[in-house]
Amino acid sequence: MKIAVIQGPNLNMLGVREQNIYGPMKLEDIHTQMKNVAEQNGFEIEFFQSNLEGEIVDRIQECIGDADGIIINPAAYTHTSIAIRDAISAVKLPTLEVHISNIHAREEFRRKSLIAPVCAGQIVGMGAFSYHLSMMGMMQILNEVKAMKEQQAASQAAQGMGQA
Ligand code: DQA
Repeated sequence: MKIAVIQGPNLNMLGVREQNIYGPMKLEDIHTQMKNVAEQNGFEIEFFQSNLEGEIVDRIQECIGDADGIIINPAAYTHTSIAIRDAISAVKLPTLEVHISNIHAREEFRRKSLIAPVCAGQIVGMGAFSYHLSMMGMMQILNEVKAMKEQQAASQAAQGMGQA
């Protein structure tokens, strides 16, 4: 099963931008840690970062038939983008919203997420560790989905045998 990680604007600047808020870790290093966790647990993972809203919408749409779940930090678009929210709604894949900082404890304009209502969950305020927690959450969700599908297939097969 495959997890798509989508990173919004200015997250390519992690490790350089406002270290007092976002910490010292570079995006590359966060991705290396996520990749290790994914591989240790038998998941595929793919990373994408863009500073452009439309490119993020395109990447979310491409997840249909390509990924089983999405981890997204929409960064500043969290607070403004109906287009990203609609794309997440459209693809109907389990999605987790991640933030490094606690957006609910910051400026008023950051406290509202347009994305949260279409996500399975939101992880905020744990620094770079938010991404690790999002991996734990997504792997749990996907394992549950897989178990449910296997159970459905088994009960359908059992019904089929009953009819034969
Ligand atoms: C952020 C929070 C957003 O408000 C901000 O615009 C970001 C990063 C976070 O991860 O804490 O760029 O998404």
